[in-house]
Amino acid sequence: MPDATVVHDEVVMADGAKMTARDVDVFYGEKQAVDKVSIDVDSHYVTAFIGPSGCGKSTFLRCFNRMNDTIDIARVGGRIELDGKDIYDPKMDVVQLRARVGMVFQKPNPFPKSIYENIAYGPRIHGLASAKADMDEIVERSLTRAGLWNEVKDRLDESGTAMSGGQQQRLCIARAIAVDPEVILMDEPCSALDPIATARIEELIDDLRGNYAIVIVTHNMQQAARVSQRTAFFHLGNLVEYGGTEAIFTNPRADRTRDYITGRFG
Ligand SMILES: Nc1ncnc2c1ncn2[C@@H]1O[C@H](COP(=O)(O)OP(=O)(O)OP(=O)(O)O)[C@@H](O)[C@H]1O
Ligand SMILES: [Mg+2]
Repeated sequence: MPDATVVHDEVVMADGAKMTARDVDVFYGEKQAVDKVSIDVDSHYVTAFIGPSGCGKSTFLRCFNRMNDTIDIARVGGRIELDGKDIYDPKMDVVQLRARVGMVFQKPNPFPKSIYENIAYGPRIHGLASAKADMDEIVERSLTRAGLWNEVKDRLDESGTAMSGGQQQRLCIARAIAVDPEVILMDEPCSALDPIATARIEELIDDLRGNYAIVIVTHNMQQAARVSQRTAFFHLGNLVEYGGTEAIFTNPRADRTRDYITGRFG
């Protein structure tokens, strides 16, 4: 029986959380990867999920926009809500959900299409722009927000896959932003990038903060300390401790958190 999650007062929300998870379990076949995890995600902050490899960070993150639905043997239990609505309700439109809760992956994965089309694709299928001028505006705004417009404005018809890794990742962030999401999930978005490209993504995350609820999985504790205001530490499928980032890093309350932060395992 794992110890109960240590939850710091500052992350207990007075008014409603953007997303809540309650007693979430995830199984792959017989094997349990996430064990009774409950957490609230606030729209005003960047929340970091940290913990050693295999502790269930990616699995749990994927529950927030039902990406685990795409894995045959994955089974999700418990309850996850977006604005108080159960996202696993059979009536939930999953395509719509994934527009509201966007995702950016570890390896940049632009479509093999032009830069323009990478951004326009989502807004088009969601009917967000009727005229060409409206679409042009969405493309420009999304690329501007992602800090990419000046670099690509003269080559919008070039392939998204022909850009540098860091540019591709910003393109993927622009693509997520284009459909006006409320939440952006990022699973180790910098792990394939060099330090300069990483710094640009971290700045971008900071710029986006406040406009979207952002949840980022990272292996890198310095990165969590730099970009997040909330940190959740996972170990062996359990959420061990959740609190303000500074408190988690300077004054953790659970022994397992302290051991991990001080490099005793992981
Ligand atoms: N598609 C899958 N099928 C079967 N088991 C899986 C699958 N994905 C993950 N697992 C298992 O679930 C557990 C949690 O994996 P997960 O990828 O969520 O961990 P993680 O914390 O993101 O690790 P990392 O830091 O290495 O990315 C691991 O034991 C892993 O082997
Ligand atoms: Mg992972």
